[in-house]
Amino acid sequence: MSTASSRSAAAVLQARNLRKQFGAVTAAGDISVGIERLSVTGLIGSNGAGKTTFVNMITGYLKPDSGTIEFDGRDITTLTPRAITRLGIARSFQIPQLYDALSVEENILVALGTAARNGQLGPATAPRGQASRLARQQEEQALAQILSQFQLRDYRVRLARVLPQGVRKALDIALAMVARPQVLLLDEPTSGVSSEEKFAIMDMIMTALAQQGVTTLFVEHDMEVVSRYAQRVLAFYDGRVIADGEPKRVLQDDDVRRYVVGMSHAAPAGARSHA
Ligand SMILES: Nc1ncnc2c1ncn2[C@@H]1O[C@H](COP(=O)(O)OP(=O)(O)OP(=O)(O)O)[C@@H](O)[C@H]1O
Ligand SMILES: [Mg+2]
Repeated sequence: MSTASSRSAAAVLQARNLRKQFGAVTAAGDISVGIERLSVTGLIGSNGAGKTTFVNMITGYLKPDSGTIEFDGRDITTLTPRAITRLGIARSFQIPQLYDALSVEENILVALGTAARNGQLGPATAPRGQASRLARQQEEQALAQILSQFQLRDYRVRLARVLPQGVRKALDIALAMVARPQVLLLDEPTSGVSSEEKFAIMDMIMTALAQQGVTTLFVEHDMEVVSRYAQRVLAFYDGRVIADGEPKRVLQDDDVRRYVVGMSHAAPAGARSHA
């Protein structure tokens, strides 16, 4: 087992002693992890290891039975998902959560509207009367930037339901980025994406995230993707972190090879019941 320091002076996120039990299943058994600002961390682990549970606890979708989560030094353990999003932690889902009957552009406009109402797009500084024109201009600029950064321009007027899987994933992540989060958690950004497409998609996503300066955690089953994009890897097994450190070292760790790499495979989308 190799476990690097679970705490970091520059941690933007700090989980302490998180526990979550589902009946007899330990989905989180005393997890303590600190995440450095602007770092890119990969979460690996076989099916059922507790990766999504960890993401769900950080983002407020699940409450830990015990333990605490701090964001920027503030205790967010008991906050709602919406309150956590407003503070600056966003996520994408294992199965993209899109409005299928709306176009790509409309999906982004809905997200921009929500972010604007939450005050996440910066203060409105215009004199009264000009405010709505300025808001429209800002919205158009933000829309154009997102379409461009996430390579969605060609799909602008397509309905979300007809998008190829890789584009669905990109749109889902783009929607999470609309609110300009400080921290972004991605649950399997390449699941369902063909192996030929996955590096192109990850290159695009990671470039966009680096441009925005966002601390990133991503859950991933593909070890090639993990070793190429993560600066640090957390390996989960049975609700515990069994290894933590540089990708090269973690992927060579005996326990990781035994319990994760050999067993790790992505179940087909839809075979999973937990978001
Ligand atoms: N809401 C829930 N109710 C009951 N059991 C749950 C729930 N969420 C997760 N579990 C169980 O907790 C364990 C961890 O699940 P989790 O979804 O976190 O795994 P994972 O590492 O994300 O797996 P995968 O790679 O398949 O997505 C599994 O045994 C799962 O069945
Ligand atoms: Mg999962």
